[in-house]
Amino acid sequence: IRKAGFSTSARQLKDINSVTVIGAGLMGSGIVQVAAQSNYKVTMVDTTDAALKNGQSIIAKSIKRVAKKKFGEENTAEQQAFIDKALSNITVTTDAPSAVGATDLVVEAIVENIDVKQALFKALDQAAPADAIFASNTSSLPITAIADATSAERQKRFAGLHFFNPVPAMKLVEIVRTEGLQDEVYDALATFAKNTGKTPVECKDTPGFIVNRLLVPYMMEAFRILDRGDAKAKDIDVAMKLGAGMPMGPLELADFVGLDTMKFIIDGWAKEGKIEEALVTPSKTLNNLVEQGQLGRKSGKGVYDYSK
Ligand code: NAI
Repeated sequence: IRKAGFSTSARQLKDINSVTVIGAGLMGSGIVQVAAQSNYKVTMVDTTDAALKNGQSIIAKSIKRVAKKKFGEENTAEQQAFIDKALSNITVTTDAPSAVGATDLVVEAIVENIDVKQALFKALDQAAPADAIFASNTSSLPITAIADATSAERQKRFAGLHFFNPVPAMKLVEIVRTEGLQDEVYDALATFAKNTGKTPVECKDTPGFIVNRLLVPYMMEAFRILDRGDAKAKDIDVAMKLGAGMPMGPLELADFVGLDTMKFIIDGWAKEGKIEEALVTPSKTLNNLVEQGQLGRKSGKGVYDYSK
């Protein structure tokens, strides 16, 4: 997909030093953590102090695990030095426009709603330096549609930067290339991803990018097996774990992701009309579970019961 003959010399490639992450939830806090661990100066932004506290407590727990794994259970001094150094790279604020005033990269990880994301980026476009790179961690919205809220110049510096949950553990980042994206921006994002210990892959701005484009239809077909009564949930999951070497069965994975999220993605794809109809056929079982508030692990019950 890369345009041939476009050289990205060291002079053209602007280094990313300071990063602003908007959204201190599950994903945002993870992105803040891996960037801070890799010695980037990171500002974590959310709308309330309570949300920032939540992000900080997710990071505090996770970074302890990382430090233990990195230095071994015994080396508590080294663990603490690593933790202190990483945490010293993080500042927090509820003031997004000031936070991006001198930033090199903005990574957005807020609520999955196109209007809210567009309003945010529109405001940040005015406040951020002209050469700052904008990225969204969205799983299901088109990057081009989000970027539309910004100036034509910014759109050339706007990409998808899609991390996976849990961010500190998952090694992949999908970099989503929009039509007019500058090569130097792609390269700067790839370097950033590598520096945080991840492997970047490149993808066009298409529904589900690579991972979810393959994974969601697979999980949906597991629900359709349930709809048809062809196999029981437990047997589907055991089959895929032992027969296909998957670490989790498709229904266990769906409970982990959240059944409301699954439904949101598949309904969105059906509405967009860009994917073959058979792949986006809704599942009665999935819809019924969501209607009953059985959303997976987070609600204590989904396909399986986690309350015990
Ligand atoms: P979350 O609900 O855990 O966190 C979202 C955070 O954004 C909350 O702390 C909320 O207060 C904050 N927020 C909402 N509106 C805001 C605004 N206007 N300005 C600043 N902060 C705002 O959500 P999660 O799971 O972290 O998802 C965030 C994004 O990451 C979504 O776009 C989602 O599609 C994407 N994503 C989620 C994955 C997952 O497994 N949960 C995986 C990969 C991407």
